[in-house]
Amino acid sequence: MIKKKIILDCDPGHDDAVAIMLAIANNEIDLLGITCVGGNATLENTKLNALKICSLINREDIPIYAGADKPIVYDLVTAEHVHGKSGLDTDGDPITLDKNHKIQDLHAVDFIIKTCKDSDVPIYLCPTGPLTNIALSLKKDPSIKDKIKEIIFMGGAALCLGNITPSAEFNIYVDPHAANIVLNSGIAVTMMGLDVTHKVNVNDSIINSIKSNNNKASIFFADLMNFYSRFHRDLYKSNESPLHDPCVIAYLFNHKLFQGKKVHVQVEEKSELTRGETVVDWLGVKKLQPNCNVITEADSETFFKILKNELSKLN
Ligand code: RIB
Ligand code: CA
Repeated sequence: MIKKKIILDCDPGHDDAVAIMLAIANNEIDLLGITCVGGNATLENTKLNALKICSLINREDIPIYAGADKPIVYDLVTAEHVHGKSGLDTDGDPITLDKNHKIQDLHAVDFIIKTCKDSDVPIYLCPTGPLTNIALSLKKDPSIKDKIKEIIFMGGAALCLGNITPSAEFNIYVDPHAANIVLNSGIAVTMMGLDVTHKVNVNDSIINSIKSNNNKASIFFADLMNFYSRFHRDLYKSNESPLHDPCVIAYLFNHKLFQGKKVHVQVEEKSELTRGETVVDWLGVKKLQPNCNVITEADSETFFKILKNELSKLN
């Protein structure tokens, strides 16, 4: 079986951590590298967190690159209220890094460009944070478009409310200019927004079921989710928390879990009130060329069965 070559661009981040572990575990995916961006936390923290996640599962071989520390136009907005001061606060023990486990010297944007150009087959870009690194790569060397198979991003909200403002999802709110560069690139783009990720929710029974794998990765998952759940339970007054980012990875190796529709999407860049809103022409009223496959449905039960099995394969 030919593996799908991917770059995971992320802002770990609790759900990013699960996406990283899922990408590493799944045998249909060839994870060429992890690139980090400012988002859930500062870039200093997101890159450190990526090192910690790979170290925890004894995969220090996965190269990690640092990218943009702020959006293209706006100042960085972070989400410590969700992910804690470090961006990866946990109920478990702190992770100590080997002193030789470091971030690569190459900038993330240059890694994305080089990897696309050098690859013998088109690659998948899987951003689960603000789209700044992806947009900067496309601006710096537009020729890489021919070497990108698909961009599958976590972000946006088509038919549901936002989560950082009433109209905007966090990743797109942070860098709306980058989102439009990606949407208008002409590359195949799939949006894994809140419509679908709010149907893929962890609760105590799922956390405990995965923890019963009783390996480091699954116990780490449980420790992370127990911290992460407290914010969501308080905000949504429910005992469930949306597991956003791993949906991007699951879509890569199991499309059948998800359903969506190809429509036209643009992002509000300027408005104080609706900055970052993904304006999704679901009914095609403006008769514009569809530019994005917007996912809205998921088979959550099967997703979590797969996640449990995949995490059991790690250390
Ligand atoms: O809105 C949720 C998204 O923003 C997730 O990717 C989360 O990790 C944060 O980056
Ligand atoms: Ca993220």
